[in-house]
Amino acid sequence: MNDPVISNAIQFARESFQNDCSGHDFSHTYRVFRLAETLAIQENADLRTVQLAALLHDVDDFKLFGGTFGQYARAERFLKEKGLDDKEIKRICTIISEISFKGTETKTPTTIEGKVVQDADRLDAIGAIGIGRAFAFGGSRNRSMYDPENPPKSGMNADEYAKNQGSTINHFYEKLLLLRNLMNTPSARRLAEERHAFMEEFLKEFFEEWEGKR
Ligand code: ADP
Ligand code: NI
Repeated sequence: MNDPVISNAIQFARESFQNDCSGHDFSHTYRVFRLAETLAIQENADLRTVQLAALLHDVDDFKLFGGTFGQYARAERFLKEKGLDDKEIKRICTIISEISFKGTETKTPTTIEGKVVQDADRLDAIGAIGIGRAFAFGGSRNRSMYDPENPPKSGMNADEYAKNQGSTINHFYEKLLLLRNLMNTPSARRLAEERHAFMEEFLKEFFEEWEGKR
């Protein structure tokens, strides 16, 4: 890694997530960083902007660090310290602000760099890793694995989505299975296909075992 700002950002993310057990550990950020690099090259996006936005995308997550919702104080402070100018900082923080899934209020990023980072974050929410992260997150919030009495909800806005306390299986229908068709770039769409198919296979098996059919 030749660019010292990138290696410092890797270090900053490593320190930020070292104690997390809710699916947001450093390895999530690092996978998003690597996937985003691959997508950036395929989609001709500016590599350094993508790398920094990927490494900093969760360092102001309200669920983990408190702070003020919709503000990116930790990312901003880091980038200022490393000498980036205000325009570059704003570009990176805009990408971070557009990335999250918020039910019907989810945004489509305005730049190709934002589209690539959002796709990489979403790819890490699906497939085998996505299944693992969903159950880790559910466990961290005392959610039940599956509750047939409480079916999934549709059409939730950002506030309803954030307050939702449903089971982890519901989360597949409320977010994870929707992501394949929400990918921004052709490169990510291709990668999403196999991961999506794997989740469908997992759910089929899960319900058969739940019903005692296997
Ligand atoms: P991201 O880091 O991808 O922006 P989030 O902060 O929304 O994601 O969630 C972190 C991880 O936990 C993701 O894999 C996500 O799908 C999962 N997750 C979020 N909400 C729930 C939930 N209600 N039940 C189970 N898993 C969840
Ligand atoms: Ni993330």
